Amino acid sequence: MAGKIPQNFINELIDRTDIIDIIDSYVPLKKTGKNHKACCPFHDEKTPSFSVNQDKQFYYCFGCNASGTVITFLMEYLHMDFVEAVEDLASRAGMEVPRESGSSFDQTNQSAKLYALMESATKYYSDQLENNKNNIINYLKKRNINKATAIEFELGFAPPGWDNLIINLGKSKELIKELLDIGVIIKSDRGGQYDRFRDRLMFPIRDQRGRVIGFGGRVLNNDTPKYLNSPETRIFQKGRELYGLFQARKSIKDLSELYVVEGYMDVIALAQFGIKNVVATLGTAATNEHIEKMFRITNKLIFCFDGDEAGERAAWRALENSLSFLKNSKQVYFIFLPSKEDPDTFVRKNGKDAFISPEMLTPLSEFLFNSIGNNINLEVLEGRSEMINKTLPFLAKLPHDPYKDIVIKKLSEITRYEIDDIQRQLSTSNKNDLVEKKVGKSSKEKNRGIEKVRWLIRCLLHQPSLALVLDIKSTSSLSALDSSGINFLCELIKLIKETPNITVAGILENWRNTKFEARLCELASEEDEFKEIGVTNEVFVDAIDGLIEAHQKEFETFKTKSSPLELSEKEKLKYREMQKSTQDT
Ligand code: GTP
Ligand code: MN
Repeated sequence: MAGKIPQNFINELIDRTDIIDIIDSYVPLKKTGKNHKACCPFHDEKTPSFSVNQDKQFYYCFGCNASGTVITFLMEYLHMDFVEAVEDLASRAGMEVPRESGSSFDQTNQSAKLYALMESATKYYSDQLENNKNNIINYLKKRNINKATAIEFELGFAPPGWDNLIINLGKSKELIKELLDIGVIIKSDRGGQYDRFRDRLMFPIRDQRGRVIGFGGRVLNNDTPKYLNSPETRIFQKGRELYGLFQARKSIKDLSELYVVEGYMDVIALAQFGIKNVVATLGTAATNEHIEKMFRITNKLIFCFDGDEAGERAAWRALENSLSFLKNSKQVYFIFLPSKEDPDTFVRKNGKDAFISPEMLTPLSEFLFNSIGNNINLEVLEGRSEMINKTLPFLAKLPHDPYKDIVIKKLSEITRYEIDDIQRQLSTSNKNDLVEKKVGKSSKEKNRGIEKVRWLIRCLLHQPSLALVLDIKSTSSLSALDSSGINFLCELIKLIKETPNITVAGILENWRNTKFEARLCELASEEDEFKEIGVTNEVFVDAIDGLIEAHQKEFETFKTKSSPLELSEKEKLKYREMQKSTQDT
């Protein structure tokens, strides 16, 4: 198994690659001034706001704020993961991707162990269902779940008692730690541990590749909580996973449509009735990630939620999250069940044909117009303009596609408002949003006052070479000022001194997957101030000196306050920190 890719290789790869070549081969770029421009591939637009800067090796869209390095671009545009993107770039550059031995090797190895343990737990629960002495079989009978279905979905049973699983799987200290890691056991306050799932019907959750990543467990009576799910772990993230996706893909090679329901039991009941193309979100609304994932394997999604108010809310959320994906024949439909029914009860009462009948389907556009127009009187002008205003924000989310055009046409018919006028409203409201964003940002910044450290970090992102003019004396006095922003600044200076040709992209790659990543990307995107004039070495050095001086002055003031009582709690803390850092140096 492969180890971690060394950071200095990533730096070199960024250095040898030209972001312009790579992006241009997917999104043709046009040179305008210093930047290369195009219509943004990440959102719908007619005038180009996507710009790629060759010096910085960085792209940025001032329409949707997408930004990043060439690696980010491949990850976002071609949906590669980080390693795939690096390997792709390396092969273009004729470089071999080296691997470190050590930490990541252990990590992959460690994950493999966790998956294997999940598999053992699955086996344990399903054995318990087989050798059942409890009333689990009766429960399955009561719910009309047949044996084939139980086998297909690997249903299991977690027996009552506090330590069945631990006794069966976790004999060593190491195993117990791993069982804790995968969330099937819980640490008790007294330092011991106990089984998370007790006396529950178990639903193993497999990811798309077929690995068990979590469990859902249902009580057999009316206890609460009705369902208990695995916690989020290193291998389980709820917002991305779909229950039943693995089974659906296994049964049907080419999924022309996919039903999305709310519950485990719904997936299972529909499957038992021969409707195999069904998945469930795991107790959350359908997220963008869910929708994107499903649209990669099918063109048609049918959301079918329970016939109650919560179901309707979930449908509306699904509508909102789907809009931006509706292009290239991607379609979304809804099924609204009679009140008090869910897909499970409906299919049992009415059968398969009733459920899959095209008459059940409400297209997204109809749901949208009906929900918005619900209490609006379209006979009067006021109602018609209300209808237009309320619909515009949703239309704005639709990508440029014939679908958008015909939805606009429909709105025009409903409201008798010209298509061109709707288009015009859409383009002005988009612009207004942008303007508001910009104004909001700059005034907020003024209120806060552009903080010095942040300003310095920004300077370095835009002109890394500034760091090279700092002498050893100022860098060491700087690193003596102990505060988190300054620590970061020092690390940044160190990196640039070690890698003098580094670009913004190179810098960003050094902080990928850290808490600084998003903020750095944001700072790298704000270029206005630097565009024309830039910052001279003198100004930069002065600012660094100023920072050191200000900090030292503050320290002096603290010292001269005659009694510690004159200091506020915050000041005391800072004073202690300062004393500590002066002692250290
Ligand atoms: P049955 O009542 O057995 O038919 O379950 P169901 O599949 O119809 O589930 P329901 O519609 O009640 O809930 C939908 C989904 O929400 C479930 O499959 C769970 O993923 C989640 N869920 C429901 N109740 C709970 C709960 O009490 N706790 C948690 N964490 N999740 C729940
Ligand atoms: Mn149900």
